[in-house]
Amino acid sequence: MFNPTIEPFRIKSVDRLKLTTAEERTSAIEAASYNVFKLRAKDVLIDLLTDSGTGAMSATQWAALMQGDESYAGSESFFRFENVVQELTGLPYIIPTHQGRGAESILFAVVCQEGDIVPNNSHFDTTRANVESQGAMALDLPCPEAKDLTAELPFKGNMDIAGLKRAFEEYGRARIPMVMVTVTNNAGGGQPVSVSNLRAVKEICQRYDCPLYLDACRFAENAYFIKLREPEFAESTVDEIVTAMFELADGCTMSAKKDGIVHIGGFFATRNPEVARQGKDLLVLTEGFPTYGGVAGRDLEAMAVGLTEVTDEAYLAYRLASTANLGDGLHAAGIPTMRPPGGHAIYLDAGAFAPHLAPRDLPGVSIVSALYCVGGVRGVEMGTAMFGRLVPETGEEIPAGRELVRLALPRRVYTRSHLDYVVAVVSEVHRQRDALRPFRFTYQAPVLRHFTAEYAPL
Ligand code: F0G
Repeated sequence: MFNPTIEPFRIKSVDRLKLTTAEERTSAIEAASYNVFKLRAKDVLIDLLTDSGTGAMSATQWAALMQGDESYAGSESFFRFENVVQELTGLPYIIPTHQGRGAESILFAVVCQEGDIVPNNSHFDTTRANVESQGAMALDLPCPEAKDLTAELPFKGNMDIAGLKRAFEEYGRARIPMVMVTVTNNAGGGQPVSVSNLRAVKEICQRYDCPLYLDACRFAENAYFIKLREPEFAESTVDEIVTAMFELADGCTMSAKKDGIVHIGGFFATRNPEVARQGKDLLVLTEGFPTYGGVAGRDLEAMAVGLTEVTDEAYLAYRLASTANLGDGLHAAGIPTMRPPGGHAIYLDAGAFAPHLAPRDLPGVSIVSALYCVGGVRGVEMGTAMFGRLVPETGEEIPAGRELVRLALPRRVYTRSHLDYVVAVVSEVHRQRDALRPFRFTYQAPVLRHFTAEYAPL
C-alpha cells in the first residue's frame, strides 16, 4: 500500500531562524557558562530543549482566541473548554490551571498527608516536587524492562505491577492516597503505557479501593502507540482508545502545553465531588476563580481546540513517525540512544556516547554544549547535573542512575529536513566524541540546580 507519512499541514506564518557561525556559538555558550538554559533563544537554531508550550498553534486555534470571553466568572470560554474535556475524558469535574504543575500542586495538597506514599510509573520532576512538598514520598515504579535502555519492547513506560502490589503490602492502603500513571512516561524516555498495564494497575487499586489518576500530558501520543502496538486496539480509533484509558481513571492532571498544543494552560479533572470542591477552594487561593483558573478566556478556547486537534490520526501518525525518524536516523548512524524511539523525544545515552567521561565529568553537559557549538542545536542534559546531588558536608557528588541527553520535539514546528540536520549535527559530535571534555560545576543552587548552574570545562 502506498502510504507515506508527511507533515499533514502547510506553513502559513514563519519565524525566521538566525544562522550563526561556530565562533559566535562558541562565545555564546561560554558567556552562558556552558548552561544552555542561559542562552538567548534567538541564538539557537533548532530548539529541542522541551516539547512543552513550544508547539505551533493551528489557524483554528488562533481564530478561537478571538472568541475568548474574558468575564471573571461564568465565562462562555470555560463552558466550551469544560465540555471538550468532559467529552474527551469522561470525567465530570474539570478545573483549569495555569499549567501542569498548578494542577499537581492543588491535587496533592487536597489528597496527600505527611508520611503518605504516591506510587507512579515515573514521576516527572515537578510532580515529584509537589508530592514531596506535602511531606509525602514519591515512589517510582517503572517496569523492569525499562532498565534496559536498548531493548526494543513496545511498552517500556508501563508500571511495575509486582512493585505496586508490594507497595500496598508494605505501606498499607492508609498511607497510599492515590496511584498515578504518567502517559507517556517522560522520565522513562517518552515510552508508552499499554491499556492492559493500566487495567492491571486498576485491578490492584480496586482491590484496595484506592483512586487511580493519570498524568495525562501526552495522552494522545500514548493512545496512538497503543493503536500501533497493542493488538486488541489495532482496529480502534484513537478516540476509542483515549476513552478506554480514561475510563480506568478516577481523575487526571494535565499540562496542555504538551498534547493540548497550547503555549500555556492545564487542568485537573476528577470523578470525586469532594476532591473537586476542595480543589476549587484552593484554586481560588492560588490560581484564580474556577471558571478561568490562572489562564485567560482565550487560552481556554485555544486549549479546547488543541485538545480536539491532537487526536487527529493523521497528525499522530506524523508526530510519532517524525520522532521515530530522528531516533532511527541516529540509531542507523551508530549513535547510542534509548530504544525504541519515544513519542515526544529521543534520548541519547550520554554514558555510552562518551565512555571516557565518568558521571562526575557531566558527560551530558559536555554533549549538550558540543551540539550547540557544532550546529546550534539545543538539547537538555538529563543525568547527573539534573538528577544527581551534592552532599554539602563532604562536597561529594552523588551521580544519577543514568546519563541522558534529551532531544524533545516541539509539536508541528520542525520539518523532516530540520530533523535530518539534527542527525547530521549529532553524528558530527559523535565523530569527534574523543574530544568531548569533562565539565565541573562552578556554581550550583541547592535545589533544581540544572536551571541556573554554571559549568566550566576542565
Ligand atoms: N508531568 C509531566 C509528565 C511533564 O512532562 C511535565 C512537564 C509536567 C507534568 C509539568 O507540566 O510544565 O505544564 O507545569 N514537562 C516539561 C518537559 C516541562 O520539558 O518535559 P508543566
